[in-house]
Amino acid sequence: MQQFAQFFTEKSFSNLLIDSISHKNPQTVLDLGIGNGSLTTAAKQRWKNATYYGVDIDKKCISNLSDTISDINLFKVNSLNINLAEKTNIKLGSIDIAICNPPYLTIRKSKKYNRLLTEANLTRSINLKSYTSDVIFIAQNINMLKPKGVLGIIVPEGIVCSHSFKLLRQDLLENHSIEMCIQLEPKIFCKTEAKTHILIIKKGKNKKNTVILSSADKDGNITDKIQVNKSALFHRMDYKFHTSTFKNKHGKPLSSLNISITRGNYSKHELEALKVPYFHTTSFKQHDKNCSLIRNTYNLDKKPTIAKKGDILIARVGRNSYKQIAYIQKGNIAFTDCIYRISGNHDDIEKVLKRLKSKSGQTYLKNVLHGVCAQVISKKDIENLKV
Ligand SMILES: C[S@@+](CC[C@H](N)C(=O)[O-])C[C@H]1O[C@@H](n2cnc3c(N)ncnc32)[C@H](O)[C@@H]1O
Repeated sequence: MQQFAQFFTEKSFSNLLIDSISHKNPQTVLDLGIGNGSLTTAAKQRWKNATYYGVDIDKKCISNLSDTISDINLFKVNSLNINLAEKTNIKLGSIDIAICNPPYLTIRKSKKYNRLLTEANLTRSINLKSYTSDVIFIAQNINMLKPKGVLGIIVPEGIVCSHSFKLLRQDLLENHSIEMCIQLEPKIFCKTEAKTHILIIKKGKNKKNTVILSSADKDGNITDKIQVNKSALFHRMDYKFHTSTFKNKHGKPLSSLNISITRGNYSKHELEALKVPYFHTTSFKQHDKNCSLIRNTYNLDKKPTIAKKGDILIARVGRNSYKQIAYIQKGNIAFTDCIYRISGNHDDIEKVLKRLKSKSGQTYLKNVLHGVCAQVISKKDIENLKV
């Protein structure tokens, strides 16, 4: 059902999540948003003696599961509810292992969610610009766990890569312990393009300074593992990014040159309404070498950002954005918020252009693309490319 974001986990990925948890003999296992029971079924095969609890908002899931899975305590309850423990009669802080593939939905910020985040020791995350159901599911799971209890959860790519969730990553890395972050192949959930990762989180602080990042293939087999220092993971926590930065370690970052990277300040629709010529992701082919001059005669409080002769334009969004690079040879043009402009002195711009278009530069840009559905390159990732 679309409304409840019901995309069920395939058996191979359920097994991968369960096998990645190092706990040998849990007494209690909780599955919030249990759906069709994929994760719990895999858990029951490994931990035969545990007591199982499953919660879902959809009564159909609960009634189907009561016919298909035996020995499980099922509850039709909203897992975002602040009184989840009372509603399910499960004691707060009593669970050994939580397994979860939550819905990925935007929800309104409110004081009750701030309280859940505070109780879960995720206090920086109260300052996130917006909340998503997966963030609150993480908090609820942590609150239900015992100290040193373990959560295995499938999260959308934004949690792991996006600048918007940096504070949550910092909370999880500093106030709890991320044991592992596994990058999954895109499109593993039917009907969705979502890029996802498995996080294995142990409740409470620990002294370990590194986290294992790994990747899994489309059959759910781990293909590689690397260890990365915690402090390097606030910016991004994905395997692909950290393996590509290993290859991008020689030279100085682009940001050390005398250049500036600026995102367009108007959307395509806004520029269209202003009736000015503009450069968008669809313009790369036509405008490759020669941009038309725009008349700067309109009277606006916020002038559109303009690209001029000698600037580089690069697409910020789109699956192939890293290939969409243009050098302005003539004229000026406004550009949309889906584009970055790189300006600077002639020599530096030449260096940057060459680097962006080089084989290794293209591989780096391809690897730093991230996003659940739309693929985005962040300004910081462009700045970190070494020249
Ligand atoms: C992405 S599906 C995953 C289902 C299952 N855990 C799996 O791995 O296949 C998310 C599940 O969460 C349930 N759900 C959505 N919103 C919920 C909420 N607020 N409280 C509890 N369950 C919810 C949906 O009904 C759905 O079964």
